[in-house]
Amino acid sequence: MNRTRRLRKNPSIRSMVRETKLSVYDFIYPLFIVEGENIKREISSMKGVYHFSVDKVLQEIKEIMDLGIKSIILFGIPDKKDHIGSEGYATQGIIQKAIRAIKLNFPEMYIVTDVCMCEYTSHGHCGIITEQGDVDNDETLSYLGKIALSHAEAGADMVAPSDMMDGRVGYIRRVLDENGFEMIPIMAYSAKYSSSFYGPFREAADSAPAWGDRKSYQMDPANSNEAIREVMYDIEEGADIVMVKPALSYLDIIRRVKDNFNMPIAAYNVSGEYSMIKMAIENGIMGEEIIMEVLTSIKRAGADIIISYFAKDVAKSLK
Ligand code: PBG
Repeated sequence: MNRTRRLRKNPSIRSMVRETKLSVYDFIYPLFIVEGENIKREISSMKGVYHFSVDKVLQEIKEIMDLGIKSIILFGIPDKKDHIGSEGYATQGIIQKAIRAIKLNFPEMYIVTDVCMCEYTSHGHCGIITEQGDVDNDETLSYLGKIALSHAEAGADMVAPSDMMDGRVGYIRRVLDENGFEMIPIMAYSAKYSSSFYGPFREAADSAPAWGDRKSYQMDPANSNEAIREVMYDIEEGADIVMVKPALSYLDIIRRVKDNFNMPIAAYNVSGEYSMIKMAIENGIMGEEIIMEVLTSIKRAGADIIISYFAKDVAKSLK
């Protein structure tokens, strides 16, 4: 008889043969930054996740660092929005101020920035709108270049374009290189699906589109071959890390990307995935162990890096 149960007999042997082990080094923790002072306000659709003003986020970063987390990804919610999202690349923009303050106080914290326009535009789309109401791909590129450059100038360690415009990785790479930022890596949201799992984020970032949806630029959840093409183009254009987003309904995509490309792969365990689990735990429907199970599955699927609102919970349970 094949006695597979021999290696499951007790915790010692189970941990010796465990194939996938989460580490605090795998994680990037997302943070939402708002204008103002002394603000730490819970986001109603994401229990345990907050809006922070720049002064307050510094305390949070101290806590994150004490937990051993090395990297954060920043999202900014500006006070003023306009049709071209000009606060997104302003020197005194919310993200630019946050980056400078964090770097001043915690130079070793690795700062990734989300490069997109939807939090900054009055219409909530991820680009410049044509007269017909479409998102103008090529016009948008120059804005994405400005946003990425402003983040690098403020001191960001890595930029992560999440807009899904064609050609943006190559465009941003050129802009960074021409301005002396050839050492700033690009983590591309390469296979980013048009997903209902972003629902809570759009409340958190106040970025729901005023009309229509993002289906003309984000991917159709039914497609897998297309994800491979997206990743291939982003690598050709110079992406250093490629991302699959969301994670849980797309574990097959993570695995395919891992098997097809010899590249570091990130997976974004998005807001809806977080809130579903968080609510189930709070209502006693499932135990907290579900967090480690779910995050382990993302790593087992092939992710090298996991962006997750659960990063602090994982760090605590690994301690
Ligand atoms: C910006 C952006 C989104 C997310 C990350 N960057 C929202 C969207 O595309 O609508 C979603 C993250 C999450 O749900 O946690 N474009």
